[in-house]
Amino acid sequence: MDPGWRLGFQTQREELRDVALDATAPFPDWLDGTLVCNGPGQFEVGDTDLTHWFDPLAMLRGFRFDDGAVSYTNRFVRSEDFRVAREHGSIRRSLPGTPADDSAVARLYRALTGAFQDNPSIGVVGLGDRLYAVTESPIGIEIDPETLETVGRRDLTAGLDADTTLGHTHVEDGTQWGLAADFGRKSAYTLFRRDAGDAPTPITRLVFDSHPPYIHAFALTERYAVIPASTVGVDFGRLSRGIARGATFLDAIAPRDAEPSFHVVDRATGEHVAAVPADQFFIYHFANAYEDGDEVVVDAVAYEDETAVTGLTLSNLRSDEPDLPRGDFVRFRLPLDGGGVRRKRLLRGPVEFPTINYGQRNGRAYQYAYLAAIDHGSLPTAIAKVALAGPTTRTWSEPDLHPGEPLFVPAPTPNGEDDGVLLSLALDTRAERSVLLCLDAATMTERARAVLPHRLPYGFHGQYYGSSDPGRSMA
Ligand SMILES: [Fe+2]
Repeated sequence: MDPGWRLGFQTQREELRDVALDATAPFPDWLDGTLVCNGPGQFEVGDTDLTHWFDPLAMLRGFRFDDGAVSYTNRFVRSEDFRVAREHGSIRRSLPGTPADDSAVARLYRALTGAFQDNPSIGVVGLGDRLYAVTESPIGIEIDPETLETVGRRDLTAGLDADTTLGHTHVEDGTQWGLAADFGRKSAYTLFRRDAGDAPTPITRLVFDSHPPYIHAFALTERYAVIPASTVGVDFGRLSRGIARGATFLDAIAPRDAEPSFHVVDRATGEHVAAVPADQFFIYHFANAYEDGDEVVVDAVAYEDETAVTGLTLSNLRSDEPDLPRGDFVRFRLPLDGGGVRRKRLLRGPVEFPTINYGQRNGRAYQYAYLAAIDHGSLPTAIAKVALAGPTTRTWSEPDLHPGEPLFVPAPTPNGEDDGVLLSLALDTRAERSVLLCLDAATMTERARAVLPHRLPYGFHGQYYGSSDPGRSMA
C-alpha cells in the first residue's frame, strides 16, 4: 500500500472559484476576513519530474469567512515560469533543485546576468494595500486577494543593492522589515525597512564571501533583528563552475568553513551589536525572539546540518521510508556582552512551521508556540502547542490527517494570549480530500472543519487578513 503522505506531493491542476464548503459546525462568526495560503501545486513540467520540494509551481489556496460560513478558491500563480511551463512544457529558469531547459551557454549567460525564477511558492506578504506571492526571488507577483488572480509584478529589490529578497519577512504596523540577498564573489545580506509599501530603506549590510550562509528567515525583538549565519551555505564558486552542466542552488548547498553565529543588529541605528558564536545549526523558521536583560532569547526549529535542505528531495519525501532531517524546537540564549550561545531543547522533533500570536507577541516575551509535529512519514501528523513556561505540550491529532502550518487568529476582544483559533489546512489521505481545520487555541480542541471538494498538495505558509485587523499572522 502506498504511504498516505505521498498524496501530499502530487499535482492538483483543478482550479475552483468561490465554492461554498460544507462544515461540521459553523466557524466562529467573528472570523470575517481571508486566509491566503501558498505552496506547491504542480510537480512536473513537460516530461520533467521536479527534483526538490521547493521547485513545484506555486498554487494559492484562499478561504473567505462570512458569518460562520467558509468559501474556497484556489489558483495557480501566473508567473512567467508558470506561463512557459504550461505553454511550452519547459523550465524557464533554474528552480532550486531542477535546472532550466536550456543550452549550457544560455544557462551560463542567465546565471551571469542574474536571472532568477519568479515562481513564488513560499508565502504571501501584504505591502501597503497590495498582496504579493513571494519566494527567494527579486519578483513579487501581485495577487487579487478576493479572486487570487495574478494582477501584476513588482521588483522587490528596487532601491536595494541585491539579487533577491527573502520569502519570509516581518510586517509591524504597516512597516515591512526584510532581508535582501546579494550573491557573488562578495555576498551580502541587507536588513531593510519599507514603510507603507513604499521604497525600501537599507539599515545594515552584513558582508560574506562567495560562500555565504543560506538564510531563509530571521527574527525581530523590540530593539533588534536577529540574523542566523549558520554553517549551511551556498557555494557560489561551485555553482558558477557547475552551472553549464546543470548545477542548481541545491548542488551548491555545502557546509561553510566559518564559525556559525547569530548576528544581532539594532533596528533603529543599524549598529551591528554582536555576532554571537554558536554550535553548528541550521534554521528555516523562527517562532519568536525577545530581549531578556543582557540576553536575547531566540526560539526556532533547529537542524544539525545541510541535510535540512538536501534531504527535502521529492524522491525522498515520497519514499516508503523517508530519511527526513529532524528539526527540534530549540531555545537559544544569546548573551550580548560576550560568550557563546546556550541552547535548550523545548520539544523534540521532527517539528516545523512554528507560529505564535504574532500580532500581539512578536518580538516580545510570550507564553505559547504552535507547531506541526511528525510522528512518522514525511508529513506532520499533529499540531502541538508548547507552553513555554513549562515547557509543557498539548497536541491535537487524528489518524490519516496531515495538518499544515497552524496559523493563530486572535479573538476580537481576547482574554489572554491564546484566546483565538488555529487555522490549519490539512490533508485527509484516507478521504483523499483536504480540509480546513479550526481548533480552539486555548483548549486545543476542534471547533469546526470544512471539507474541500478536492485534494491539495501539502502547502507551505499562509496569512490571515481580517477586515478590521489586516496585520500579518506569522513571520
Ligand atoms: Fe519557510
